Parts: sequence; C-alpha cells; structure tokens
Amino acid sequence: MSSQRIAIFASGKGSNAESIINYFENNDSIEVGLIISNNSKAGVLNLAERKGIDSKVIDKDFFYKSEKIVQLLNYYKIDYIILAGFLWLLPSYLISEFENHILNIHPALLPKYGGKGMFGQHVHRAVYDNNEEESGITIHLVNENYDEGKILFQDSCAIEEEDTPDDIGEKVLRLEHFHYPRIIEDFINGHQ
Ligand code: GRF
Repeated sequence: MSSQRIAIFASGKGSNAESIINYFENNDSIEVGLIISNNSKAGVLNLAERKGIDSKVIDKDFFYKSEKIVQLLNYYKIDYIILAGFLWLLPSYLISEFENHILNIHPALLPKYGGKGMFGQHVHRAVYDNNEEESGITIHLVNENYDEGKILFQDSCAIEEEDTPDDIGEKVLRLEHFHYPRIIEDFINGHQ
C-alpha cells in the first residue's frame, strides 16, 4: 500500500503540528505532505520551512469563494486533512470532498465548551470560571458545524484548586501533543 498523505491546517503557533510532524518523520505509511495556514504570521509556517514541508497561506476568497484548495490538495495527493488549531470553519464543498477524512482536536471535553468562539484561552477561561474539576481533549471527525462531528477519542486531566486558566491550558496541551499523532495514525490505519 502506498503511503497516506496528510495536510495539516493550522492558524497559530503550531505546537500540535510540530508534534504530528515529528511523530511521522520516519513513518513509512503516513507522511505530512502539506501545511495550510490562513495566517501569514503563523509560527507553523516557519516550522514547515525548517522541516522542508511545502506550505500555502490562503485567504478567505480562495477558501470560501473558489474551490481551488481541492485542486491544491489533489496536486499534493493529500488523503487526510488534520486540523491543528485551525480557526476557520471548513466550507461544505471541502467537507464533502474529504468526507470522513478530516480530523480536529478540541481542547476540552466536548460537547461541553465547544462551538463558535470556543477556542484557545476562551475555552480554558470558561472551564475555570465554571469551577470544573476536570478538562481534557476531544479528537473528532469534522462536519459542517463547529466541534460536532463523531468523537473518536477523549482523555481528561484533573484541575486542582490552585490551577489558573493558563495552567489548565498547559495540562490540556500536554495531552494534545501526546495523543493526537497516535490517534491520527490509528484512525488512518484502521480506515484502509
Ligand atoms: C490547541 O489547543 C488546539 O486544540 C486548539 O488550538 C490550540 C492550538 O495550539 N484547537 P498549537 O497552534 O497547536 O500550538
């Protein structure tokens, strides 16, 4: 079987992208073929350059008013889209084209703390404000609504009394880095 190629979509720092790239660096069956970002200042673009992976910055017209990203992904022979801190809702043409081939990670235990506007520190602040005793991660398939596709995996972490929203964010990010690459691998291998 030829190797399966993934494109990582990211808007920010790219620490998840980095853990995924590192994990698959010497993998014979799964390869990171492309990085897509909507933010020309995203740290993930430097990472792509350092790692020798092609990248592309997209704007709203390209993404929402044309379907050229499908051509781009096909050109790079991309089989799966991996969202890692990508903040734009995916257009429906892209979801149909890659049906059941798009994964996202959310930094909370969905269905709690999901939906529009629930990203990054907003999530951890809301968890903190509600005095939750735990938070965690959710890895799920992507459909047309924010954070609502089928859940593939969750893991939780305890929140201590003295934890700040930043502390919660750090605990959650550690879980993300640990689990996301492995769940991607299991999902893709199980899908063949
Ligand atoms: C992560 O918490 C991810 O779950 C979320 O956005 C954050 C991205 O962090 N959706 P990074 O860019 O991977 O460092």
